[in-house]
Amino acid sequence: MSLFKKVDDLRSEFMQALASNPALSDLEQIRQNFLGRKGVINDLFKKIQEIEADRRGEFGGLINQLKLDIHDHIEARINEHRGEEKALSSVDVTLPGIQVERGTIHPIESTLRDFKQIFHRLGFSVAEGPEIETQWHNFDALNFPPEHPARDMQDTFFLKNDSVLRTHTSPVQIRLMLEEKPPIRSIMPGRVYRNEAIDAGHYCLFHQVEGLYVDEHVTMGELKATLELFCREYFGESVKLRFRPSFFPFTEPSSEMDVSCFLCGGQGCRVCKQTGWLEIGGCGMVDPNVFKSVNIDSEIYTGYAFGMGIERIAMMKYGITDIRLLFENDVRFLKQF
Ligand code: PHE
Repeated sequence: MSLFKKVDDLRSEFMQALASNPALSDLEQIRQNFLGRKGVINDLFKKIQEIEADRRGEFGGLINQLKLDIHDHIEARINEHRGEEKALSSVDVTLPGIQVERGTIHPIESTLRDFKQIFHRLGFSVAEGPEIETQWHNFDALNFPPEHPARDMQDTFFLKNDSVLRTHTSPVQIRLMLEEKPPIRSIMPGRVYRNEAIDAGHYCLFHQVEGLYVDEHVTMGELKATLELFCREYFGESVKLRFRPSFFPFTEPSSEMDVSCFLCGGQGCRVCKQTGWLEIGGCGMVDPNVFKSVNIDSEIYTGYAFGMGIERIAMMKYGITDIRLLFENDVRFLKQF
C-alpha cells in the first residue's frame, strides 16, 4: 500500500473516531493515538525515507496538514465539552424563581360552577342551546303573543332571517322538550342579550341559569322546596325566600323570587335598598300553551320552570357595585377574586 494512501486512510480513521461523539477522556486517548510520541502520525513520519527523494517534500506537507487538522478538531471538541460543563454549572438552583402571573376564575364562572354543582346534587343535568335563536324558539313557542312588548326593538337584538340574539335562556326549554321525553330535569346556563341602555346595573349581555322539571304530578310545592333548598345551599342556612305573584307568558301561575338580604340579614342596607330583600329571578308552572307547542300532553304532564340572573347574584355575593366591571376584564379587578 502506498504511503500516500496511508495518509488518507488515517484521516478517515480519525474522522470516524470523532463521529462517535467521544467523551472528554476519550478525546485525550484519541489525541495520544494519533499525535503522541508513539502515535501513528509519528510512525508515518519515520517512513519518509522510503519515499523517492523528489516526492518527500509533498509527503511531509500532507502529514503536517493532517497533524494540524487533527489537532484543531480535537481542540474544538474539547472546547465544546468545557462550554457545556460551564453552562450546567452556571445554573444556580438556589436562586428564587421568576414569579409567574396566575389567572383566577372569573366571578361569573365561579358562580355558574356553584350553581351547577348544587343542582347536580338535586338531580338536574345541564343542557345548552344556541345564542342566536329563531323568533319561534325565543318567543312564539313560549306563548308570547305577537304584539308582546318584550319583542320590541328596545329589548331585542333582531338579526337577519327572522333570528334574534336570545333575550333569555327559556328557548333552551323548548329545544329540550322537543328533543327529550319527560321526565326532564335540567338546568340551562348561558349568555343572553338585551338591547338596553348600559349603566351600573344593566349591560347588553348577561348570564342566566334556567331550570326545568317536567313529569307527571309536578307541583308548585316542589318548585318552592327545590328553590329553597338551592338558596340555603348557596346563600347560607339562615336565608329566607319570598315568592311574589308576577307574570310571564310561559308560566301560569308565575312568581318572582326574592331572598332575604344576606349582607344585612334582612335589616335593610344599601345593597337591598333598605328593603331587606333581594330579587334573584322568576319562576312558575309551565303554561299548557308551551306544552302544546312542543307536543307534550298537558293532561298527563305538569312542570315547573325558573330563571335566575347570574350577574345580579354574583354582584351581591362579591359586593360588586357596577356590572360593567364583569365584562371589562381588567386584571386589577379580576385579581381580587
Ligand atoms: N325567562 C324569564 C326572564 O328572562 C325568567 C323565567 C324563567 C321566568 C323561567 C319563569 C320561568 O325574565
